[in-house]
This record gives sequence, structure tokens and C-alpha cells, in this order.
Amino acid sequence: MAFIWIKHLLVCLSLLSVFFDLSHATSSSITTPKKRNYEKYHYYIIEVIDDSFATPKDVEQLLGVQYEGQVGVLDNYHIFSFQKNLAARSDSESEETHDRVLARYEQLKNLRRSNSSSKKRSMQIIDSILSVDKQVLRKRHKRAPPPIPSPKNETGLVTIADSLGIADPGFEYQWHLLNPIEHNDINVTGVWEEGITGKGVYAAIVDDGLDATSDDLAGNFFAEGSYDFNDAVPIPLPRLSDDTHGTRCAGEIAAVKNDVCGIGVAPDAKIAGIRILSGQISDADEAEALNYAYQKNQIYSCSWGPPDDGQSTEAPKGVILQAIIKGIKEGRGGKGSIFVFASGNGGAVDDNCNFDGYTNSIYTVTVGAVDRTHSHPYYAEKCSALLISTYSSGSGSYIYTTDVGKQSCTNMHGGTSAAAPIATGVFSLVLQIRPDLSWRDLQYLTMISAVPFNLNEKEWIRNYAGRLYSHKWGYGKLDAYRIVQNAKTHKNLGSQVYIEMPIIVLNTPIPFTDSGIVSSVNVTQIDLDNANFSRLEHITVTINIDHTRRGDIEVDLISPYGTVSHLGATRRYDEYKGGLTNWTFMSVIHWGESPIGEWFIQVRDRQNPEHSGIFKNWMLKLWGEIVTPTSPPSSPSPVIESPSPVIESPVLPALPTQSGIASESRSSTWIFAIFGMGAAFIFAGIAYFAKRRFWDKRGGRSFFSRETYEFSALQSGDVTSGADVSIPLNKQFMTSKELFDAFGDSSGDEDDEIDNESYAASGSNNDDNQ
Ligand SMILES: *[C@@H]1O[C@H](CO)[C@@H](O)[C@H](O)[C@H]1NC(C)=O
Ligand SMILES: *[C@@H]1O[C@H](CO)[C@@H](O)[C@H](O)[C@H]1NC(C)=O
Ligand SMILES: *[C@@H]1O[C@H](CO)[C@@H](O)[C@H](O)[C@H]1NC(C)=O
Ligand SMILES: *[C@@H]1O[C@H](CO)[C@@H](O)[C@H](O)[C@H]1NC(C)=O
Ligand SMILES: *[C@@H]1O[C@H](CO)[C@@H](O)[C@H](O)[C@H]1NC(C)=O
Ligand SMILES: *[C@@H]1O[C@H](CO)[C@@H](O)[C@H](O)[C@H]1NC(C)=O
Repeated sequence: MAFIWIKHLLVCLSLLSVFFDLSHATSSSITTPKKRNYEKYHYYIIEVIDDSFATPKDVEQLLGVQYEGQVGVLDNYHIFSFQKNLAARSDSESEETHDRVLARYEQLKNLRRSNSSSKKRSMQIIDSILSVDKQVLRKRHKRAPPPIPSPKNETGLVTIADSLGIADPGFEYQWHLLNPIEHNDINVTGVWEEGITGKGVYAAIVDDGLDATSDDLAGNFFAEGSYDFNDAVPIPLPRLSDDTHGTRCAGEIAAVKNDVCGIGVAPDAKIAGIRILSGQISDADEAEALNYAYQKNQIYSCSWGPPDDGQSTEAPKGVILQAIIKGIKEGRGGKGSIFVFASGNGGAVDDNCNFDGYTNSIYTVTVGAVDRTHSHPYYAEKCSALLISTYSSGSGSYIYTTDVGKQSCTNMHGGTSAAAPIATGVFSLVLQIRPDLSWRDLQYLTMISAVPFNLNEKEWIRNYAGRLYSHKWGYGKLDAYRIVQNAKTHKNLGSQVYIEMPIIVLNTPIPFTDSGIVSSVNVTQIDLDNANFSRLEHITVTINIDHTRRGDIEVDLISPYGTVSHLGATRRYDEYKGGLTNWTFMSVIHWGESPIGEWFIQVRDRQNPEHSGIFKNWMLKLWGEIVTPTSPPSSPSPVIESPSPVIESPVLPALPTQSGIASESRSSTWIFAIFGMGAAFIFAGIAYFAKRRFWDKRGGRSFFSRETYEFSALQSGDVTSGADVSIPLNKQFMTSKELFDAFGDSSGDEDDEIDNESYAASGSNNDDNQ
């Protein structure tokens, strides 16, 4: 007994000690993933219903498996193991094909079906189980710089560095930050001059490791948010010879200000590494990775995905999809984890980011690539889910960034892999000044702040909200200065709502003609009212098409005002014979358009007469913002005629300057400390008892019962049609020296405690969701 009390006291003390490290008020919440041994065991994810009365013991006994724990933060998903029959090696194939656990589960389910009235406990346990998913190891694919087919020297850019006499490519080489030659850069220096450098922001690089020993990264490395899922160790160091990708991406985001390899976009942001790409992982690992430390890590930078081979059509499902949704609903204190995904490098083989369920998701920001000359890199994938583009390799130029090694740099980083981290860096700058932005606020700001360019290209279309969009570039290129200025005055969007239109069933053969099949659905004001729907954001279309060659299918969505989203484009290498089954396409193109009226879908088949298909059915789903008392009526938005954004000098709010925040906060340090201590005691108590309850559940009664999660409505507020801030296009010439000096002013270390406090404040309102 005494022992137990001492143990409890120690637990309590250790919880309390957390609060003396004010910066990370919830550090006890990150559970280190349990090491799995895929060689010796089969693993199964078992999904149970809410408030299931089944216990892990019940499941263990029923299926003969061993409980391993919950899958990350997903309450309804649990992982169980079953020892492989290693002795009977020759027999292992039969074990693979005839899985004993799955067979037993099927057997029990059949038993249940044959007697649905049975009150036997085992039968009720079977009722509690929604699915048993055997874990298969898969490798996720890096969107690393694809090999350049031939050094074309289209523009002579290869030689620019030489002509400048940059023998030791250093700071000057980071043209994506400051480009005095073509002036094509992310326009970030003005943001740094305002003291906005990513302080207090935590970005995780989900990749092949992060060299925390690099002089460029050590200072910003955030160990607590990091984990190595490939080797099951805490620090995700690169270990394989080609584990350079994550380190390079990390350098782009937050290389510290020093003279090693230039500087990151957000040089004061903290960076965590989550290593998953250096080997095979299971869906459970990926799910845990995408939620890892999700109250601390705010942005997950993902430069990977399904293969970019022009023939894959793969979407996160099951536990991975649940992890993404969990991150969106509960991550970052309920404001939503920011998932940034590279659009993909399959451009040369006609791949399209609408056939990748990660980039195609409404929950991710999809980032495409533009090269130094504003050409479209041959590798960069297009699609209607593409939100924004930013700089990467092409036309002989690359991204210069940190490499693996204490002081190593590379001037060969590229692919859409290199674009996504730049966006992550820019979002880190935005979140420094607006940690309250929801995941949708950030997408909205990205859209309204994008700068359209190469305006003579035919791909640009104007949607009915008056914005230019290109399937090649999204809404344009990312401009750090514009998005930060817009963020200052942005009013948070209301919660998300959606309208699911009825499924339209056709089952009609697709004629081999230019017009194909057109089908439509009418959205009315009543549909909007029923859903309390005010402003349209994303559109998803779930479609079923049988076809003997998937690569031939073309799918367009046409809005009531004539805006066309190319949902599905032809892919010349996609020979798949099964068509599209329940595939969900996404478009960001109609954001801000009025949803009322007739929406058309056009399915065409014009490639190979010997192949044919049947358009079975489709369903339109509109996602948008809830009606709030102040939201504007959902009437058609006016068309803005001029392609250039409305010129409006941003009225900057009375946002305290960095130094202002600093002095104010220093004077109140004691109040914070006293308040913090009080809160710490209360919280420690709660956390302690919550933890005890967890153990109680785990040992016995209602382990699976899920605490009801109140979907915390996102910040409600006035809905304004965020006026675009226009920045004149001729940018001031600034030398690297000036750049360095400008940055140097604002990089003092003395602000650290303030940032920690504001970080803790922003992340603290979700503590009890752990
Ligand atoms: C079904 O289960 C009930 C309760 O366990 C039992 O009484 C009944 O005999 C079973 N029926 C059949 C057909 O097995
Ligand atoms: C690249 O092109 C430029 C301009 O056309 C030319 O001056 C230069 O010699 C070329 N460089 C190489 C390596 O071919
Ligand atoms: C870039 O930002 C600066 C502010 O530092 C602004 O004055 C300039 O016009 C911006 N350039 C572009 C091209 O928008
Ligand atoms: C939608 O409404 C238009 C105009 O009222 C009508 O012509 C059309 O047939 C309707 N379409 C559907 C699918 O109901
Ligand atoms: C719409 O709003 C009303 C009033 O706030 C509410 O009663 C109703 O449940 C809401 N409907 C939906 C579908 O959210
Ligand atoms: C398609 O999705 C719906 C809803 O998610 C589901 O009910 C249906 O079974 C799925 N169909 C197929 C063929 O997977």
C-alpha cells in the first residue's frame, strides 16, 4: 500500500515538474510508440465501436491475440499481435494466405450471423468489433528531386552562379529567398524585418530523418516532437546512405542563421523529425506519425506519398484517414494540424495529384513547384486540388539547403519535395503572428494571398469569385509578405459544414465522343439553409466508373457559373482495368463561388476506341463555412474584372510589435508564474486522475469506451471577404548583405520565454483531449 502511495506521489510530482518547463505544458501527453517486431509478429488493427464494453482481454481471449495498445491518439483503434509461426518456415506461405486470426474472426462473425439473438458475451464482443485489419508493410515514396533527363541549359541559368563568380555558393545561392537577378523569390525579407521569423512555431518534417547534429539544425531541433518509426528510437537521425531528404527539407524550413548553408524560411521556428520513409512501415505506424505530438507540432511537412508513376490511384484510408481527421479536429488545440503535401513528381508520366488521396484531400495543403525562371518543371503534377506553387528545381537551378553532416550543404535539392517545405516555412511565419488560425483559415489565406503569374498562359481561368486559377499553379505562387500581411487582419472563418447531394445513378456506357456523358445536380437555397451553409470552400465528387483502361477516363466538374475543374485527366501509363471505384476527387477552384444552381459532371472517353467504360454513379459534396449571424447572404459573388488583385493598402491592426510584446510580458512574468503554479496543480490533479482512469480501463472494465469529444467549434467571427492585399510587383533590389542585416536585427534570443508562453497559451485549451 505504502509503495503504491509513493508511486502515486512520484507520478504526481513528475507531472508537476512538467509545469516548471513552462514552454511545454502538455509534454506528458506524448506517448512513445511501442516498438513492433514485424519479423516475429503479425499485427492487426482492431476497430471497435464507440462505448464498446469489450476489453482488450476479451479480444485477446476471443481471437487469441496479444494486446499492444491504442493506435496513437485514435480511441477506437487498437493494435494486437499474433506470433508468426517461424518454426514452420516452409509453411509460412500458407500462414500468409490462411491467416489464423482473420479466419477465427470470420468464423465468429458467421456464428453471429447465424444466431443474431444470442446474448453470449463472445457474440456481443464480436458486435463491438467493426473491423480487423491485418498490417501489411509498405514503403512510402519520397518526392525527391527526380533525375533531370538531360542538362538542357534552356536559359543559361546554369552559368549564372559562375558568371557572378560565386565560387563558394553560400547565402547568395538561396535565390528562392532573395533573387536579385530574376526577382523570382518568395519575398520573405520584409517579413523578417518585421521580426517575424517563425518564433514559437513547431514544424514536423515527416520524412527519412533529420540530422539533428547539423550546425544548421541543432539549434532549432525539437526532440520532443520527434520520433523514428523506422528504427523505433526517439531521435530520427539519418541512418541510411540516402537519408538526406528530410534533412534537406528541414534546412529549407528552419536552418538557423549562421554561415553554414544559408538560412531557413523561418529561421527561428522549431523543427521536429518524424522518420517513416527509411524502410517499410505499417498503416498503424503512419497513423501514429501523422498525429505524433499533435498538440506541439503544428505543421506536418510531407514530401512523400503514393508512387508518382502515373498509374497509382491510392488514398489514405482506415486508420490513416482517421489520423488525418483526428489531427484536423483535435490537433493544435482544436484548430487543426496543418498538413502540407508536395503535389508529386509524376508530371513527366502524366501523373496528376487528383489521383493521390493525400494531395487530393480537403485536409491537406497541396503545394506544386515553379522553377527559378517561372517555368513549369516537367516533374510537377497538376490537378484541381493544387492550392499554391512555390519555388523548386528546374531550368538548371536547384534549391540550396542544408545536407546531412555537421556543416554540409547541397545545391541539388529539388522536386515538389523541395517546394512543400518552403510553404511550411512560410506557414510557420504566419502562425507566429496568428496561432489562432484554423486549418481552413490558413488555406483561405494561402488562396487569397497567392500571386498569379505567367498570365498569358491558357491554363488560367477566372472563377466566379473573381480569382484566377490554373491547374498548373493553383491560385498562383506563394508570397510570404502578402500572406503575412493578410494574416494580420484576417477574421477567422466560422466552423465547417457540408452538403451531401444525393447519389446520381446512371449506369450508362460512355460513348467514344467528344461530349461523353453529362449529368447534373441542382443545389438550391433550401439545401444551403438545411445545412446552415454560407460560403463554399472545397468540393468533392465521389465517382464510380467501370472502365477497361483507367488512364482513358476524363472527368470535369462544371459549376453553375461555368467554372471548370478538371477532376480526372488522362494518364497514358494507367492501364488499370478496374476503372474508378468510389474514388473521391477534390477541387479548390470553386472556393467563394455561389453553390446555388446546376452543377454538371462530364465524363469522357476519347483515347482508345478498343477500351470502353460505364459511368455508374457520382455524388457531389460541398464543403464550406457555417452561417453565422454576420455572414453575408449566399448570393453569387460579384465578378472582379481585373486580373490584378484589388489594390488596398493593408490597414494593419494595432498588433503589438515584437519588442512591445516582450516588455509587456516581462513585466508580467511573476503573475504568469503564480497563475501557472496554480493551474499546474489543478491540471496535474486532473491529468493524474485521467491517467489512472486509463490504467483502470486498460486493466479491466471499459477500456474501449470513448470519451465523447465535443467538436470544438472553430473560432467564430465575422465573415469578411478577406480583401486581397496587393503588393506592387517590382521588388526592391536587396543585396545578400542587406538581407542578412535585415534579418540580423530581429533574431535576438531574448524573446524566447515570451514565445513559449504564447505557444503554451495557444496550445493549452485542448489539454483534456489527451
Ligand atoms: C441462439 O442463442 C440463444 C441464446 O444464446 C440460444 O438460446 C438459441 O438456442 C440459439 N439458437 C440457435 C439456432 O443456435
Ligand atoms: C548555356 O546557355 C548560355 C546562353 O545561351 C550560354 O552562354 C552558355 O555557354 C551555356 N552553357 C552551357 C554549359 O552550355
Ligand atoms: C515584397 O515585400 C516588400 C515588403 O518587404 C514589398 O514592398 C514588395 O512590394 C514585395 N514584392 C512583391 C513582388 O510583392
Ligand atoms: C436543374 O434545374 C434546371 C432549371 O430549373 C432544370 O432545367 C434542370 O432539369 C434541373 N436539373 C436536374 C438534374 O434536376
Ligand atoms: C442550423 O442552425 C440552427 C439554428 O442555429 C440549428 O437549430 C440547426 O440544428 C442547424 N442545422 C444543422 C444541420 O446544423
Ligand atoms: C463506396 O463508399 C460508400 C460510402 O463510403 C460505401 O457505402 C460503399 O460500400 C462503397 N462502395 C464500394 C464499392 O467500395
